[in-house]
Amino acid sequence: MCGIVGYIGVKPALPVLLEGLRRLEYRGYDSAGVALLGEPLWLRRAVGRVSDLVQAAREAPEATVGIAHTRWATHGGVTEANAHPHLDAASRIAVVHNGIIENMTALRAQLTSEGVAFRSETDTEVLPHLVRRHYEGDPVDAVQRALAHIRGTYGIVVLFADHPELLVVARNGSPLVVGVGEGETVVASDPQAVVQHTRRVVYLQDRELAVVTRAGVEVRGLDGAPVDLNVELIDGDYDVANREGFPHFMLKEIHEQPRSVRRCLRGRVQSEDGMAKLGGFQMTPRDLAAIQRIVCIGCGTSYHAGMAGAMAIEALARIPARAEIASEFRHRHPIVMRDALFLAISQSGETADTLGAIQEVQLKGGEVLGVVNVVGSTIARTCGRGVYLHSGPEVAVASTKAFTSQVTALLLLTLMLARTRDLSLPRGQEVAEALASAPEKVAHYLANPGPVDAAVELIRDARYVLFLGRGFSFPVALEGALKLKEVAYVPCEAYPAGEMKHGPIAMLEQGTPVVCVVPQDAQRDKAISNMREVQARGAHIIAVHTEGDDEVASLATVSLPVPPIADFASPLVTVLPLQLLAYQAGIALGRDVDKPRNLAKSVTVE
Ligand code: F6R
Repeated sequence: MCGIVGYIGVKPALPVLLEGLRRLEYRGYDSAGVALLGEPLWLRRAVGRVSDLVQAAREAPEATVGIAHTRWATHGGVTEANAHPHLDAASRIAVVHNGIIENMTALRAQLTSEGVAFRSETDTEVLPHLVRRHYEGDPVDAVQRALAHIRGTYGIVVLFADHPELLVVARNGSPLVVGVGEGETVVASDPQAVVQHTRRVVYLQDRELAVVTRAGVEVRGLDGAPVDLNVELIDGDYDVANREGFPHFMLKEIHEQPRSVRRCLRGRVQSEDGMAKLGGFQMTPRDLAAIQRIVCIGCGTSYHAGMAGAMAIEALARIPARAEIASEFRHRHPIVMRDALFLAISQSGETADTLGAIQEVQLKGGEVLGVVNVVGSTIARTCGRGVYLHSGPEVAVASTKAFTSQVTALLLLTLMLARTRDLSLPRGQEVAEALASAPEKVAHYLANPGPVDAAVELIRDARYVLFLGRGFSFPVALEGALKLKEVAYVPCEAYPAGEMKHGPIAMLEQGTPVVCVVPQDAQRDKAISNMREVQARGAHIIAVHTEGDDEVASLATVSLPVPPIADFASPLVTVLPLQLLAYQAGIALGRDVDKPRNLAKSVTVE
């Protein structure tokens, strides 16, 4: 979703800004723009990719100060006029903004009545006009006073033609990081656009404002109160990933899963003790034993991983556990029990809905730990404690390797919790063994993925596809349907197999493709009955099942066998054919699989 880069230094600003935008491309956007210091400010914007902006910005003036933005439309269509930066009437103040200004209707009406002519449909454009209204020669004071009128979320960078020596930056609910280099300072919404210049960074906190100069950064509260500077060194893998010979990032990331699951397990499974260790949780066995319920919070794929994790926790640790969709949970005035542990699950660590849910739990005195991939991300820092997935950068918009790593991390926690309760040493050793062998099973399937092409033929022109699963396979069915919608735009839905007869069965007709996830687990026999109900309606079954399960295979039009694995770990292998199915269907239908329409990798608005 929207990305911000700002630069003040000694180098030509334009290449730095464009490279920064390129590094933020993975977040998803629909237009881009740049403003450089000049008399007046020099502005170029373009609909489409950063490469379109590069073309539009060919004849840029020499400047060592500028700001740039990638926009993901919220207020107003995808047009050049709506792209950021936005300027005041005299083109002397430029603003880039992430977030949403909630009182923009009232502010636009007021500014219009004062004679301002708006040139875009965006909420952001109120900012340069408001800053102009309060500007009396002091840029910081003008931004501070303008922001006092704003309700909503923002991360902003403001460039003044009259003040070539600084940028003014402010944050409320939308992340910003300032990288302090030698004679140059870079501001961005994501460390990804900073690390190639410096690893010395200052993360702005909510309701903070920063004055950024070539010499560094000075931070204060929005009320002007001084704030101690906290310069951190960021670690973590921020290299721009390459496709390693694969035609798309999504396929590369699917095939990376043996390695990413292994990285998530490394040093954390204690086979002899039948135990796991998640140091980042900072919990003693006594702390773990005191937990009476678990709530996994996330969105999209992360929510599905949370569902699978919650089921494993209930099954093995016998602790009541559930998964919650962050956007619903946070606005429901949730009950936060003192004996509950909340887990915020997120690949990007920047998802606004998940962050909002965390803040709601924290405000009510609850404990939230992060299950996060991106090191140093807002969610990781807001939680303070938790587990990193170590999946490496996930670039394709559709999440794949993060899902298997999230499930893996939650299974490690499950083992820790279970062993502080009733799980015996031998049973703990079995669970530890099942986890330790998961990367090989993932690799085994990916080396021989079965007739995915034949399954694609069944679904590519379908009007409707139904995904079914029971128990641990229901979140997998949901995840398979989500992937197919996201990257192939094929209409589909997922249901618990036993619930099919209560409605969706009406959708079945001759030839309807139905994807049944039926590994060899306690639910298998019931799931076979559901498959027979599907078959009796003339629908075509694509079955994901355990190798050697001839009964399930015999009911399927296309059979996709996966290696045998313990039931609680089955999502780690049953999801793989569904990821490949979505990918190959997307390719067959000519979709942009790495950057599907309308989607963003990092969903930083509510
Ligand atoms: C699915 C997908 C989204 C994300 C969701 C949460 O392929 O990418 O549904 O899973 O937006 O994102 P994170 O995990 O970054 O919080």
